[in-house]
Amino acid sequence: MSYNLLKGKKGIIFGALDENSIAWKTAERIYEEGGEFVLTNAPIALRMGEINELAKKTNSQIVPADATSMEDLNNLVEKSMEILGGKLDFVLHSIGMSVNVRKGKPYTNQNYEWTHKGWDVSAVSFHKTMQTLYQKDAMNEWGSIVALTYMAAQRVFPDYNDMADNKAYLESIARSFGYFFGKDKKVRVNTISQSPTPTTAGQGVKGFDGFINYAEKMSPLGNATAEDCANYTVAMFSDLTKKVTLQNLYNDGGFSNMGVSNEVIDAFSKK
Ligand SMILES: NC(=O)c1ccc[n+]([C@@H]2O[C@H](COP(=O)([O-])OP(=O)(O)OC[C@H]3O[C@@H](n4cnc5c(N)ncnc54)[C@H](O)[C@@H]3O)[C@@H](O)[C@H]2O)c1
Repeated sequence: MSYNLLKGKKGIIFGALDENSIAWKTAERIYEEGGEFVLTNAPIALRMGEINELAKKTNSQIVPADATSMEDLNNLVEKSMEILGGKLDFVLHSIGMSVNVRKGKPYTNQNYEWTHKGWDVSAVSFHKTMQTLYQKDAMNEWGSIVALTYMAAQRVFPDYNDMADNKAYLESIARSFGYFFGKDKKVRVNTISQSPTPTTAGQGVKGFDGFINYAEKMSPLGNATAEDCANYTVAMFSDLTKKVTLQNLYNDGGFSNMGVSNEVIDAFSKK
C-alpha cells in the first residue's frame, strides 16, 4: 500500500547489492511512496550488475562510490544533486563489511589491518558521507539521514566479531554528527537497529541460522524482515518523524527488551 509519504523527496541510497539487501527493499518502498533517488554502491559490487534491474524498476540512476573514498563521495553528492535537480531530503547508509568475519578470523585473533579496513567501511564511511553532505550544504532543512545497525553494539554476540565494535562506533557517529546536523541544518540523524535478516552481509556471520531462529523465538512479534526495515526507514524519511533525532531505534519485534521467552524456556526444559 502506498501513502505518498515521500512525494517530492529526493535522496541517495547506499548498499543495494541484490534483491535480498535491506537497501534494495527500501529503494522499492521509497519509490512506491513517491521518492526519487540515486543508487550507489562500491564499484566492485556494481560489477555484479544486479543493481541495474533495481535502477530500471525504480527509474533511478546509479553513481558508483567506494564509501571510504572522499573523492568518490564528493563526486557522488555533486552528481546526485545534478541528477535530482537540487538538494537532498534523505540518505540511507546500508553498508557493512568485516574482513575478519569474511576470512574466518575470530575476535581473539584479529588481523588489525583487516580490523581497520572493516571499521573504515562499516563505521567511518558514515562520518565521511555526512561530512561530505554537510560541507556541500547538500541536505534540505528537515531532511533525514539513517544508518543501519545491529544490537551487538550494546550486547555480546560472540560471532558478530569486530562488527560489534564497528556498530558501536557507527551509532556514536550518528549522535555526534546528528548534533551538528540538527543545530546547523535542521537535519535529523538516526540509526535503525534491525533484527537478523537473511542477506549477503547477514549470512556471512558464523552460526547465522541458529542466531536468526533464536531471535525469532525470543521476540514477541517475531523478527523484523527486510520489508519491515524498509517501512520503518520510509517513516523516518517522511515528515511524520521530524523531531526524532540522535536515536538508536530498534526494529526487532521486541527482542532488545526481552530476558527470556516461553519458547526458549521450553527448548531448555527437561522433558
Ligand atoms: N542482515 C542482517 O542480519 C543485519 C542486521 C542488522 C543490521 N544490518 C545492517 O544492514 C546494512 C545492510 O546490510 P544487508 O544485510 O542488507 O547486507 P548486504 O550485503 O546486502 O549489504 C551490504 C552492502 O554494503 C556494501 N559495501 C561494502 N563495502 C562497501 C564500500 N566500501 N563502499 C560502499 N558500499 C560498500 C555492499 O556492496 C553491500 O551492498 C549493514 O549496515 C548491515 O550491517 C544487517
